[in-house]
Order: sequence, then C-alpha cells, then structure tokens
Amino acid sequence: MKKPLILFASAEVTPFAKVGGLADVAGSLPPAIKQLGYDIRIVMPKYQTISEKDWGLVDSGKNIEMPWGQEKLTARVWTATLPNSTVTVYFIEEKRFITSGGIYIENDASSGGSDPEFARINVFCSAIPELLRIFSLEPDIIHLNDWHVGLLPAFMQNAGYQTKHLLTVHNLAYQGIYPAKFAKKTINAVLEKINPLAINNGNINTLLNAILSAEKINTVSPSYRDEILTTEFGAGLEGFLGKRAKDLSGILNGINTEEWDPKNDAHIAFHFDVSSLENKARNKERLQKEVALPVEKNAMLFGMVSRLSEQKGFDILIPSLRSILKKASCQVVILATGSLYIADQIKELKKEFPLKVAFIDKFNNALAHQIYAGADTFLMPSRFEPCGLSQMISMRYGTLPIAHLTGGLKDTVKNNKNGFCFNKYSSDKLSVCLKDSLKIFKDNQKKWGQMQRQAMTEDFSWNASAKKYVQLYEKLADEA
Ligand code: GLC
Repeated sequence: MKKPLILFASAEVTPFAKVGGLADVAGSLPPAIKQLGYDIRIVMPKYQTISEKDWGLVDSGKNIEMPWGQEKLTARVWTATLPNSTVTVYFIEEKRFITSGGIYIENDASSGGSDPEFARINVFCSAIPELLRIFSLEPDIIHLNDWHVGLLPAFMQNAGYQTKHLLTVHNLAYQGIYPAKFAKKTINAVLEKINPLAINNGNINTLLNAILSAEKINTVSPSYRDEILTTEFGAGLEGFLGKRAKDLSGILNGINTEEWDPKNDAHIAFHFDVSSLENKARNKERLQKEVALPVEKNAMLFGMVSRLSEQKGFDILIPSLRSILKKASCQVVILATGSLYIADQIKELKKEFPLKVAFIDKFNNALAHQIYAGADTFLMPSRFEPCGLSQMISMRYGTLPIAHLTGGLKDTVKNNKNGFCFNKYSSDKLSVCLKDSLKIFKDNQKKWGQMQRQAMTEDFSWNASAKKYVQLYEKLADEA
C-alpha cells in the first residue's frame, strides 16, 4: 500500500524560527519520519526574521491569492530544505501581515488575543489550501501543531478538501483565543466551518477548534495525556478532551541527538563522553569564569535554561534557592527570558548572594550549551510540563535533573537513578530534593558518577517515537 503523504504545519521550526520547544520538535521530528520512508513536508510562515541567505531559501516564483474580508491578499511561496535533512519546507511570505514582523506580536509569546496576531496566523492558514493546489500536493494527513493552526481544518473544508488531521498539543495552557468579531470581518466564509462549540462568549478558541475537528489528537508525553483529562491540568478543556479520549494518545518527544552531543558540540570547550567525565569538570570551570562566578570545583553548580513563566516553577524555586544558598556550598546559573516580574525576583536573589548567583536574561544559544555541559545539576521544578526537552538534554551531558514529577518529567526522570525528583509541588519538597542532591554530590562521588553514566546512556533519540507517529498516521489514513 502507498505510504501516506504528510504535511506538517507549524508556526515555529528550528532553526528558522524558535521561541520554545515546539520549534525543536518541528525541526527534528519530520526528518526522523522521513528516515522511515515517508514523504513529509513542512509548511511555516516566512517571518521577517528568517534570513533567505543564511538558510538558502529559494523563491518558487509562485503566488497565492486569497480573500481577506473585502480585500484580496497575495502571498509568495519560498522553499528550502531543512538543514541536515532532505525535508522540504514551504514558507508563506505575505508582506502585510506575516512578513512584517517576528513570530509573535505579543511580547510574552502568549497565544495572544490581538487582532494583528489573529491576522498573521490566519493569513498563513488561509494560504495553505491554495499552496496545495498550486503545487499539486495531495497530502493524506495534515499534522497540526498547537493553537496557531487550529483553524486550518476549517480553511481546508472551506476549500473543498477532505484531508484528515492529526493535532499535536504541545502545551494546553496556550489556546489562542480571539474575538469572533474580527474574524467575521476577515474570514467570514470560513466561520461557519469552525465548530460552534469552539466559539464561546464572542470568542473563538482556535486550539479547541482543532481538538474538535482533528480525527486524532496526541500530546507530547504519556503522563501529560492522562493529566489533561483532569481539572487540575485540563486548562478548562478537560471535558472536551474527555469526549475525545479514545482518539487521544501520548507520545514522548525525542531530542536532536546530533545537535545535543557532548562528544561533538561546537559550543563547548572540552568534549566528553561517559569515559572522559573529567572533561566535564573543565567545562564547569570555564562556565564559572564565563558567568563571573568564583571557580570552585567542589561547589555544586545548579544550572537552569528556561522561560521566565509561571509554568516553570519559579514561585517554589526562589524560596528554596534562598534557603539553600544561605547554608550550603553551591552556586546557581540561570539563563532565561520572559516575565519581568520573575526576572526582578531573580535579580533580588543575585543581590543577596552576588558570588553565588549568575543570571543572564538574554537569548544565548552558545551559553545554553555551556550550561548543559558545565553545570552539575539542572533545575526543572515545573508546575506542569507537557514533555520538557531540557531534562533530556541535560542528562545527555551528565548534568542530573532536579525535577517535579509531572507530565514528561515523570516519564523521563528517575529518582536517585538518573536525577532527583519530588512529587508534591511545594518549596519544602523541592528543598528536600536539592539537599539530597547536595549530599550525594559531597559524600558519594562514586554514586554520582554512576548516576551520570546512567543519565548519559538513556535513549532520547526520536527513533522509538517517530515509529509511534508513523503508526498513528497509518491508522488515520486507513480509517474510513
Ligand atoms: C512546549 C511544552 C514542553 C514541550 C514542548 C515540545 O514547549 O511546554 O513541555 O516539551 O512544547 O513539545
């Protein structure tokens, strides 16, 4: 039987445009699926921030026309090959709404609510059925990712397509809710193809529309799959998800094991693997110098690369750090941007412990690699975590994660084996966990080394998960 053709739709794709983990998945899952012999192509918006030259984008010379309210918009299609793969990427360039700015219009990359953001993302969606027509592409499945493309099934239906959809939910907290009033003015014809349950109080919930329209839904870890059926984690959508439970699965994300490889990482000074962990210590020294912390071999260095958002657990982390920094020989380095409110609290901590805290609130990919490589432990006390990629990355570098047992953290971190975990989300429980890690670090280097080796040899590649996606595609394509 012919293998299904897949179109993978995502608003973020590494390395072209990245804010969060969505981009990393969109840049590494499609090549893994292609390796299994499937034709999979990516479609994404061409933001102003995407350099044609750096990424070798080619102008296809083809235009797309689409209605937008009373007007007609024209988009241009560009193509490129995803670096280190053979996956074709289609970029939709539209000068007025899409290619006039970066990925998000809202500062905090939230799922917005503003008209310009609705326009940017839905001009993109409206171009997709036309792209398929012009390129004579007939995908069997459209793989939707997150709220950005939540209305795409309605655009497809409106254009007369019966293509099936798989929705991957990367984070239920972001739903993309927009006033229906603006939609009426711009995409009125498509409005009646939106599931009426997704329109509530005059607002369209774009993620909910995809939850109601896609034939199959998955989320990015088995544990998060179960959690989102509860009121605690369902973000108000648990009832709708419950009704779709038989079509809802959980597939753990993988990471790009070539990009994240301590043996071969261009951003770190000393390469290492399980048999040369002494080089990890040299990276630690380098990192301490780099972020202006005293070079102290025996001080535990907690690392963190994160987004400054409530999800990531700063409300319990800051009090825990405050008490542990007072008592123990340890340091912390945090690389993160986002909420100014959280940034202020970390700056406050830095004032109290100037020689123990380093805080870098700028995007810096090289430093991220250096923290993964040079820290002893990696902080991940997330309140909730759909999958989380950082704990898997840190483990590959022998940096033991300290994690709250939730979502994908529950599926990857094993207490006292490849990291340290706590079950109840509280500062007290986190503090106990920090102390446990300090104790083993100080008193039992042998065990520490064993845990590092265990962490470094876990298989976090896409191999197993890409096979699960392919099974889902096959099932979906087969179903009448
Ligand atoms: C989101 C989630 C994160 C997940 C990523 C990729 O960023 O918060 O847990 O790993 O998407 O699926």
